[in-house]
Amino acid sequence: MTDQAPVPYAGPVRVLSGVQPSGALHLGNYLGALVKFARLQHEMDTFIFVADMHAITVWQDPALLADQTREIAAAYLASGLDPAKATIFPQSAVREHAELAWIFNCVARLGWLDRMTQFKEKSGKHKERSSVGLYTYPVLQAADILVYKATHVPVGEDQKQHLELTRDIAGKFNHDFDRPGFFPLPDPLIQGPGARIMSLRDGTAKMSKSDPSDNSRINLTDDADAIAQKIRKAKTDPEPLPENLEDLAARPEADNLVGIYGALAEMTKAQVIAEFGGKGFGTFKPALADLAVAKLGPVGEAMRRFLGDRAEIDRILAAGAEKAREAAAPTVAEVREIVGFWKG
Ligand code: TYM
Repeated sequence: MTDQAPVPYAGPVRVLSGVQPSGALHLGNYLGALVKFARLQHEMDTFIFVADMHAITVWQDPALLADQTREIAAAYLASGLDPAKATIFPQSAVREHAELAWIFNCVARLGWLDRMTQFKEKSGKHKERSSVGLYTYPVLQAADILVYKATHVPVGEDQKQHLELTRDIAGKFNHDFDRPGFFPLPDPLIQGPGARIMSLRDGTAKMSKSDPSDNSRINLTDDADAIAQKIRKAKTDPEPLPENLEDLAARPEADNLVGIYGALAEMTKAQVIAEFGGKGFGTFKPALADLAVAKLGPVGEAMRRFLGDRAEIDRILAAGAEKAREAAAPTVAEVREIVGFWKG
């Protein structure tokens, strides 16, 4: 038997990504995802949603969830997403995501999901007490992407495995139903210095919404004082900054702060080292704090401004949902036909 090369997808390029409304957004979300969204909207047709269906895989207070969704929308707008260019919407407002996710649940294999490291991390020691949704979460993610036949998915490094699963599901669907090239195999857009921002308290742990220590992360809503203080308190070693990248890689906390500086200043780590190598943290940290305040201060301010008019956010989300439904419905209609569902 000879393996045939998969037929390439011939449809248009399209960007899709999303963020969960499950806690305050932090610098990692901003650099790993939001700034990329704002940039890509000028290059491709862009769909950015608030992943509220993903958020409820762990308990969310129903009285707060809709407002958390608005907060993420405000963060999108504050970081430069323009509703005239990008389609911004809540995931749950487009039912096609759930419908395609069910079909994909029947395409994905248990063995594939068993390998997902994020489920293992999130479920911890008591996996039998996790929701079934948390387990099939990456299947819903594949549906989010493929219901729009998105070709490019800007995400942080931690989503890499979920994107690989998405490609596996697309490939298996195309193969099983003998529809070569029906779904694209989407490309993750991960590269860049902001792809993996680490905790300010531990250079080996990811900066995360769920870290119990607020000093581990810079929140988008932190004011200038909080940002400066968290950087001042960030864990470091007593040595001056190294003069080359090899030495930097061996020092996770220093590496992280240099990476953050580079991502905020749009410089490579090598360029940051060229400027600060040999200097102590007493010099570098205040420079980083000034930069972070200059870059993030206006984002936090804009977020608060947008949140001052929730009715306007709701209008933007409703209009986005309408456009998203129009884009998603034809895919699901075709998939229903391909799968062989009754249509009367
Ligand atoms: P979420 O809400 O956990 O994170 C949103 C985005 O932020 C990125 N990110 C980071 N980037 C760099 N450094 C960090 N420390 C850091 N922490 C988080 C994430 O990689 C992500 O891009 N499953 C997704 C949401 C989702 C999705 C999708 C994304 C649902 N469906 C379809 C893309 C396409 C998630 O939980 O992201």
